[in-house]
Amino acid sequence: MSGTNSGTLGGAPGASTEPGFDQSKRTWIAVTAGAGAVGGVAVAVPFVSTFAPSERARAAGAPVQVDISALKPGEKLTVEWRGKPVWIIRRTPEQLDSLKKTEPLVADPKSDRKQYPTPDYAKNAHRSIKPEVFVGVGICSHLGCSPSDKFATGAQPSLPDDWAGGFLCPCHGSTFDMAGRVFKNKPAPDNLEVPPHMYLSDTTLLIGEDKKA
Ligand code: FES
Repeated sequence: MSGTNSGTLGGAPGASTEPGFDQSKRTWIAVTAGAGAVGGVAVAVPFVSTFAPSERARAAGAPVQVDISALKPGEKLTVEWRGKPVWIIRRTPEQLDSLKKTEPLVADPKSDRKQYPTPDYAKNAHRSIKPEVFVGVGICSHLGCSPSDKFATGAQPSLPDDWAGGFLCPCHGSTFDMAGRVFKNKPAPDNLEVPPHMYLSDTTLLIGEDKKA
């Protein structure tokens, strides 16, 4: 049984307690509740599922059906699955291109590590079924903080001058590229998890299940 779609477009603003790093709330719920514009994308859908009848079922692991027809290039949608934030990002051609640049810089470019095994259908250069649509769990593989969107390229605080776009975990500075691949020599031991998922139609995703029963 599938839950209903509930999501938040946008990402997490940050500030800082550790010198050199942005500070963000440690729980993803706080992040989505306070989501703001990132890269010019405004919050479009409030996160309103707290009291929905299906919440208990979803927390127990029921798959979540998501309509991504309104998701534009460069936008991110966050849905909840098993109590975790799952990001769905429609990457722009430039963001997909950036993966070639980051490939030699990431710790596990082929997603071979096993801490968060990547499904076979996402063991490719873009870590996704459709090249442009990335589906990943927004929880750092180090100690569980929720990384912040850093989609803008170029020099900015806590990031290298040649930053190609991706995510920064505010807790201990791990960085991930636009496919959720962790950069080398960071505290996070693995890439961001790709959850089981499948397409029910061209614009409908099912998160939490990857084959028909
Ligand atoms: S929890 Fe992300 S770097 Fe430590």
